[in-house]
Amino acid sequence: MSTPTPVIRLRRATKSYEGGVHALRGVDLTVHAGELLAIVGPSGSGKSTMLNIIGTLDKPTSGTVEVAGHDVGRLSDAQLSALRARHIGFVFQHFHLAPARTAVENVADGLLYAGVGARERGARARGALERVGLGHRLTHTPNELSGGEKQRVAIARALIGDPTILLADEPTGALDTASGRVVMDLLHELHATGTTICVITHDHDIADALPRRIRFRDGEVVS
Ligand SMILES: Nc1ncnc2c1ncn2[C@@H]1O[C@H](COP(=O)(O)OP(=O)(O)O)[C@@H](O)[C@H]1O
Ligand SMILES: [Mg+2]
Repeated sequence: MSTPTPVIRLRRATKSYEGGVHALRGVDLTVHAGELLAIVGPSGSGKSTMLNIIGTLDKPTSGTVEVAGHDVGRLSDAQLSALRARHIGFVFQHFHLAPARTAVENVADGLLYAGVGARERGARARGALERVGLGHRLTHTPNELSGGEKQRVAIARALIGDPTILLADEPTGALDTASGRVVMDLLHELHATGTTICVITHDHDIADALPRRIRFRDGEVVS
């Protein structure tokens, strides 16, 4: 039997902000390759802070963070960018799409730091949009798309680099139930192809449908 590989490992990770806010109070977490993890807990309990630290968008105040086998505290900014480009895709509640750019352009931008030429970026963006069922919306700009479609564009952008890990911060939080279901079905499909996924959610039905759940309270994982 092979030992499962940890793709994410936090040890005693803390995050404090000026003014004495302790967003994380010492989090230990191990996520293995291929897991689909729900992160739940009240607003302000540290969920986004942890996801941003895992995604190397933010650094812990203390403790260690390993992503895809790298101790991220030991990496330079350039090495962190390379790690993100190779291993991490991010999806946010409010999509974070560039308003003046088409779906294809928004998705292609997901490869800007991956050293891929413009022509191939475009080709792969079209492929990624087809994969999320938006092959018929390639040249639409975000204001011409529904919320659910916008989130599928954001997912296509996140997966275009074929990341090891997909991090989603309340991806259905701004969507109606039906669109939210489409987005979650998509995450389940990605999980089935081997992507490791961590998804923050307020929705109990969504969380209950996921194989593993962790619960935050006041900057700590309580279960
Ligand atoms: N940049 C920041 N500066 C100061 N405090 C912050 C910052 N980001 C988050 N916080 C605080 O850290 C705590 C955890 O926030 P967050 O991780 O966003 O919680 P959640 O995602 O669970 O709602 C909150 O008290 C929040 O106000
Ligand atoms: Mg949050």
